[in-house]
Amino acid sequence: MNVKGWVAIVTGGASGIGRETASRLAREGAKVAIVDLNIDGANKVAEEIRALGGEALALRTDITNLDEAHKMAKAVLDKFGQVDILANIAGGAFPSKMGSFAQSNRETWDLNINLNLFGTFNCTRAVVNHMMERKKGKIINIASVAGIVGQATTADYAAAKGGIIAFTKSMAKELAPYGINVNCVSPAMTGTERVRSMPKDFLQKQIDYIHLHRYGEPEEIANVVVFLASDEASFVTGANYVADGGITLSY
Ligand SMILES: NC(=O)c1ccc[n+]([C@@H]2O[C@H](COP(=O)([O-])OP(=O)(O)OC[C@H]3O[C@@H](n4cnc5c(N)ncnc54)[C@H](O)[C@@H]3O)[C@@H](O)[C@H]2O)c1
Repeated sequence: MNVKGWVAIVTGGASGIGRETASRLAREGAKVAIVDLNIDGANKVAEEIRALGGEALALRTDITNLDEAHKMAKAVLDKFGQVDILANIAGGAFPSKMGSFAQSNRETWDLNINLNLFGTFNCTRAVVNHMMERKKGKIINIASVAGIVGQATTADYAAAKGGIIAFTKSMAKELAPYGINVNCVSPAMTGTERVRSMPKDFLQKQIDYIHLHRYGEPEEIANVVVFLASDEASFVTGANYVADGGITLSY
């Protein structure tokens, strides 16, 4: 896929789907900024990319903080001179805080909205003017099937992810005149380290709903993100690519 020589920011690049996306973009010839709270993990991914002859920069950034997002974008511009791709991948639910809405409180809503929705907003805000000036850019956001069909016991996470889908479509409309494509990927359960460590019976219950009878692999989601980041997806904007083994067919 053609991303050769382009500069990509991958948030959440230290692990899971973000890590696979950063590695795949680098293998396709992009220079990659790995942005994560986990700087040790981000450094490790950057070292792996450099060991294969690629160019990478690791940055510790809390994406929930707009000032930090702006500093991150400046650091990438100082190092690489341009930003062509923003993959907003950092996010997630907070398993220890899951529970019925009737027992929920503002704290879990703040956590989910801050990380998933504001994290996506902050990093987009930090690069959008630069992309508009250059009349070039690819923004790929990660939502979830939870944002499409809803999810009991994590209404906060589902609402944040649904917000990302609406944000994606709105940005696609607003940024189309500037040659910027904005798309979204909605995975179902994906076999990251965090997911693999969940109780086996819980995992099996989820898999039972998936028509392909397995969870996705992080690289299978990364493949879709990299496609949307590439020249090959030049006529795709405002889309929500569902990579879910068919789970949403059941709803
Ligand atoms: N794994 C799944 O089953 C699944 C399913 C649907 C959607 N998703 C979405 O895919 C994305 C990636 O998920 P994953 O499973 O690869 O997660 P992961 O936990 O493996 O990786 C998330 C990364 O984000 C980083 N991060 C967390 N908070 C941050 C912050 N405030 N600032 C910067 N970095 C931060 C973490 O350090 C971690 O490296 C998330 O948005 C998640 O909601 C995952």
